[in-house]
Amino acid sequence: MSTQEQKIKELIDLREKAKLGGGPKRIEAQHKKGKYTARERIDMLLDEGSFEEFDMFVSHRCIDFGLDKESYLSDGVVTGYGTIDGRLVYVFSQDFTVFGGSLSEMFAAKICKIMDMAMKVGAPVIGINDSGGARIQEGVKSLGGYADIFQRNILASGVIPQISAIFGPCAGGAVYSPALTDFIIMSRNTSYMFVTGPKVVKTVTGETVSSEELGGAGVHSTKSGVAHFVSETEEEGIMLIRKLLSYLPQNNLEEPPLMPCNDPIDRLEDALNEIIPDSPNKPYDVKEVIGAIVDNGEFLELQRDYAPNIVTCFARFNGQSVGIVANQPKYLAGVLDINASRKAARFVRFCDAFNIPIVTLVDVPGFLPGTGQEYNGIIIHGAKLLYAYGEATVPKVTVILRKAYGGAYDVMSSKHLRGDINYAWPSAEIAVMGPKGAIEVLLSRELETIEDEKAKVEFLLRKEQEYKEKFANPYVAAKFGYLDDVIEPRNTRFRIIRALQSLATKKDTNPPKKHSNLPL
Ligand code: HXC
Repeated sequence: MSTQEQKIKELIDLREKAKLGGGPKRIEAQHKKGKYTARERIDMLLDEGSFEEFDMFVSHRCIDFGLDKESYLSDGVVTGYGTIDGRLVYVFSQDFTVFGGSLSEMFAAKICKIMDMAMKVGAPVIGINDSGGARIQEGVKSLGGYADIFQRNILASGVIPQISAIFGPCAGGAVYSPALTDFIIMSRNTSYMFVTGPKVVKTVTGETVSSEELGGAGVHSTKSGVAHFVSETEEEGIMLIRKLLSYLPQNNLEEPPLMPCNDPIDRLEDALNEIIPDSPNKPYDVKEVIGAIVDNGEFLELQRDYAPNIVTCFARFNGQSVGIVANQPKYLAGVLDINASRKAARFVRFCDAFNIPIVTLVDVPGFLPGTGQEYNGIIIHGAKLLYAYGEATVPKVTVILRKAYGGAYDVMSSKHLRGDINYAWPSAEIAVMGPKGAIEVLLSRELETIEDEKAKVEFLLRKEQEYKEKFANPYVAAKFGYLDDVIEPRNTRFRIIRALQSLATKKDTNPPKKHSNLPL
């Protein structure tokens, strides 16, 4: 064998060694847990053959606690770039087979390198997390490494999309990198996220709780809202990432990709003329409205099981990517509460940062009353959504389907918050409050003077009817120009598409400032 051949063989051997990560036994253990390895995950995620790996020959520099005797090529994280549907993405995938995927100085440096590259060229970063946290042997080097990543997450926020998949443990301060990214996907039963684990919880608070109960996908998709998506399998999670990216631009200076559309823009949906029940207290499913108006009935919902009283999703109108925010009358009558406000505010801000127009479907009876909400700061949290809409400069199209009461009328992308095109269905009711509450406030003295119960009821009904005739319709708002038109429900798709087309060249700005002081 010539010297050159020997050198090439050495390279191939080294590559093969690196690809084995922590070795066949640990790979087998990973598979037994129902998990894929770091490299298998990247292979599933990226277009076939598109992965270009960086830093395969990196290994750790620490020599404490026996690390001088044990060393692995790649040092527990696989990094590089490739394409998804032909579009460039940067990726890191933590390798649990090497020191439990724990983060070392060099591990962090590898992640920082691809994040810096992604920022330079303006491409999304996808991080696959499966790690025991800070590499204990490396002490503060490891903590510093985390902070180096956090700093990059912060600077990249609003510049390039950042997506985190959690396919194993993600504990301690390690959770904060995913938390700083735009979207978190967790795999059911094989992932968990918490700041302090069950053992510490037991010691400090005396609570007995399992990892799954403390920070499994179920908890974070329903109670905390930390996870935007839950996948039943890793394959499903990876497909979700690919789908999510299809709605997003590469960076904040680009528009989202325009997809070919075979769904006619003037498709009439007769069922929408019937969807609003006659009784204002009867619910309907706003997802049926969304499905009826978007391209091919397809939409990608975020945080589906968290604050279901508001729906946030990506969809397309005539091939154009949009973010939809819709009150959901099926849950809590579509009321705005703390969780719904936070959920929708973050979504609106994401869309605004990445040039994705926002379509808002309104059916909201107001903010949720009660001490539970007030003591926990509905004032500040509700303000977040109001702020997000008022700050957003992307095209904003609003359709009031039914109720738009009180402050919630203002909040939900009203004309007054720079809503560009605001429509209502004929079923819209726009007022300071619902008829019953209004009459009780306005006419309480008069009511007290009526002694006969039957006369009281008749009086109330009459006055409620008067109030409804005056306010429970869209025409008062239309009279003042707060609505641009009252539209036939079955024609909503066409009207929204026309509105979006007319707004395609929209330019709007906010006053120059260092940054805003969003109510937190
Ligand atoms: C070094 C680690 C490690 C770590 C795991 N390993 N975590 N090595 N540093 N943090 C190693 C193990 O020694 C083992 O090596 C291999 O990874 C697999 O770990 P197991 O324990 O056998 O796996 P499993 O039973 O699946 O348990 C996984 C685990 C557990 C739950 C993650 O390993 C664990 O509790 N690790 C410690 C977690 C932790 O406390 N991390 C620090 C959090 S604080 P061998 O050679 O046997 O294969 C933190 C601060 C960040 O991260 C701050 C940022 C601001």
